[in-house]
Amino acid sequence: MLAARAVRIDPDDPLSGLEVGEAPDPDVPDGWVLVELRAAALNHHDLWSLQGVGLREEQLPMVLGCDGAGVDPDGNEVVVHAVVGDPEAGGGDETLDPRRSLLSERHPGTLAERVAVPRRNLVPKPATLSWEEAACLPTAWLTAYRMLFTRAELRPGDTVLVQGAGGGVATALITLARAAGLRVWATSRSEEKQARAVELGAHAAFASGERLPERVDAVMETVGRATWAHSVRSLRPGGRIVVSGATTGDDPSADLTQVFFLQREVVGSTMGTRDELQRLIRFCDAAGVRPLIDSVVPLRDARDGFARMAVGELFGKVVFSV
Ligand SMILES: NC(=O)c1ccc[n+]([C@@H]2O[C@H](COP(=O)([O-])OP(=O)(O)OC[C@H]3O[C@@H](n4cnc5c(N)ncnc54)[C@H](OP(=O)(O)O)[C@@H]3O)[C@@H](O)[C@H]2O)c1
Repeated sequence: MLAARAVRIDPDDPLSGLEVGEAPDPDVPDGWVLVELRAAALNHHDLWSLQGVGLREEQLPMVLGCDGAGVDPDGNEVVVHAVVGDPEAGGGDETLDPRRSLLSERHPGTLAERVAVPRRNLVPKPATLSWEEAACLPTAWLTAYRMLFTRAELRPGDTVLVQGAGGGVATALITLARAAGLRVWATSRSEEKQARAVELGAHAAFASGERLPERVDAVMETVGRATWAHSVRSLRPGGRIVVSGATTGDDPSADLTQVFFLQREVVGSTMGTRDELQRLIRFCDAAGVRPLIDSVVPLRDARDGFARMAVGELFGKVVFSV
């Protein structure tokens, strides 16, 4: 089958370890099923894998990709849940299973014609979502859903700050937060992306690091070192920063005085459960919300999509048609 694989790890030049070509079909263990993919989407996770974050040399070659939608062996249209874990081992939440992994970490991923997943990881795709839209949901969009509604526990009328407007997670955060009745503020390094954030649904957009008109109830943080100090300062006393990524580095000053003196909370978040993915899909269906797609590229040209992400040009998701 055609697949995009990591064949080498290079922290400084991740694209040099990417190979798009023929690969063997994945094994299908008992209780797993083979899905014929129609579309797959790119995440920063795939670039991290090529840089050796979460993927070791001895696991190579590895098919990349967490996001996908396709057809199961019974002919059903499905979205693939990317978290491989046991809910019981995580106290009812597979993301808390100490042995959980994401597709492409231990098991071959979705940037391919076929992927094998546990049967419980299949979620029905509604006919209202296109293949490309459905493929965007399992990682960045699911992460955004859990950040806003499970981890930050935001309610309509609250104000949320989204750092780094252009990213896959960030565009999902803006869209979902707006649809849920929140007041949405976003930051970006580029004026053009600030304008696009407002078009997408943000009530206002600011330059990265700019002082806000008032402090916010919660901050959604995926950028890391470049925006952390601003995230802490922008949060109201008792407010919550939910962090699910650190694209620019994971070691900023912790600003502990700012955290304890104003009783702010810092909460981690990763992916989401199958149940949350189902609710996200229902939310999109019911509210008419659709993932913002930056570009659709044939899987054979996957390298072009990776290159756009590596230089930070994106606004929304890169999707590969299979
Ligand atoms: N924990 C999880 O389950 C989970 C799930 C999904 C993603 N993540 C993580 O979340 C992060 C974002 O993922 P993604 O797929 O959305 O990646 P992406 O599409 O590549 O987004 C990158 C983001 O970083 C911002 N950015 C990059 N360099 C910056 C800088 N120097 N200063 C300020 N902002 C900067 C960009 O904002 P502008 O260009 O608008 O400034 C953009 O929002 C990644 O680190 C990823 O690993 C984690």
